[in-house]
Amino acid sequence: MTRTRPIDDATLTSLAGEYGTPLYVYNAGAIRRQAATLSGFDIVRYAQKANSNLAILRLIRSLGFRVDAVSAGEVLRALRAGFRDQEITFTADIFDRAALQVLGEHAVHVNIGSADMIEQYAHIRPGGDITLRINPGFGHGHDKKVSTGGEESKHGIWMAQQAEAVKRVEAAGLRVTGIHMHIGSGSDFSHLSKIRHAMNVAVRAAGDDLSYFSVGGGLPVPYRPEDHDFDIGRYTRDWHKTKADLQQDLGYDLVMEVEPGRYLMAQAGLLLAEVRAIKTSGSQRYILCDAGFNDLLRPAMYGAYHHVSIVGGDTGMTFPTLIGGPICESADLMTQSKGSVVDPRELPEAQVGDLVCIHDTGAYGASMGSNYNSRRLPAEVLVDGDDVTLIRRRQTWDEMLELEEVSPEPIVQRP
Ligand code: LLP
Repeated sequence: MTRTRPIDDATLTSLAGEYGTPLYVYNAGAIRRQAATLSGFDIVRYAQKANSNLAILRLIRSLGFRVDAVSAGEVLRALRAGFRDQEITFTADIFDRAALQVLGEHAVHVNIGSADMIEQYAHIRPGGDITLRINPGFGHGHDKKVSTGGEESKHGIWMAQQAEAVKRVEAAGLRVTGIHMHIGSGSDFSHLSKIRHAMNVAVRAAGDDLSYFSVGGGLPVPYRPEDHDFDIGRYTRDWHKTKADLQQDLGYDLVMEVEPGRYLMAQAGLLLAEVRAIKTSGSQRYILCDAGFNDLLRPAMYGAYHHVSIVGGDTGMTFPTLIGGPICESADLMTQSKGSVVDPRELPEAQVGDLVCIHDTGAYGASMGSNYNSRRLPAEVLVDGDDVTLIRRRQTWDEMLELEEVSPEPIVQRP
């Protein structure tokens, strides 16, 4: 693929000067460009876990897309961003008590991944409609941790138990109006024909009230320079064939939904960090910057690849370099592959104060952030043409501490 930096170096330098680092920078135009390629689906439902910033949700909503929520908090975010109840689907394998409360108050559609949820939902919304999330017995993703099918995944209703679940739905006075499958994140075409076949079987066995099916998300993006763009045309055409077959057999029209997260967001974002130290340890050269795995967990968690560059440093000699962060753990390395194997990158000379750009971090970057090592959540900005908007300010020290200020005096007094 041809890698274009979503934002030019001069802009990045001025953004870092104005908002500090670490800083997530998103490009609205890049989100819109990806979005436009999904027009072949009847409904695009954004999986907000990829990036649930309110400004991003508002932008997604302005495109006419709907939204997926996996927790009470994500439902509340979607509502705050302006989505109406009926534009939100709640997908999960349990209802925790907070979710039941929010779903009792808002008529949000639910997509059920465990049969025990059926009666629990009937209790809060008698006579309601639901979707069944089916586990087709196999899964696939960029890492075992993100494969969501097969017996080693907790997700979905096991396909062989679908008929039983449909009976339970009927007995509870609910209706199955949709079938959903999502076998993993970052899947590929070799699994597409298998899931299309499984979808075909599951939709036919879903009863008389079925009106739509969701093909889930998981559409990959090119993270490595040698990766190709995902063939979205082929993906859309293949699913249309499944839809046409099903419609012909069932004798009525179906609505086909897709549920991407990464595909819309990953390439639209980057993480900007400042170089704070450069050193060698034996044969390894390290650039240590001020973004750690509390800001971007993917390399430490999955050995995920993110392209790294030095802002303004694209010319001249390069050296194999590891990029580390400030966290007090060896896992705090942005350049590592699976099994914690170090993955040096060819990078030019850098100085303390230079900016490091960690690419394709718009999905599962900020949304997986934490306060580990008592580091504050980073700021996020959205660039839209000439407009730059701060869409999350950096957390303050007081905000980081305030949840713990519940009992100012020690509870147990020492004698
Ligand atoms: N639908 C369902 C039911 C899902 O569980 C997921 C992702 C998606 C859609 C969206 O998948 P996507 O299109 O973004 O691949 N933290 C991991 C990814 C975890 C994905 C979990 N479920 C990562 O950083 O790669």
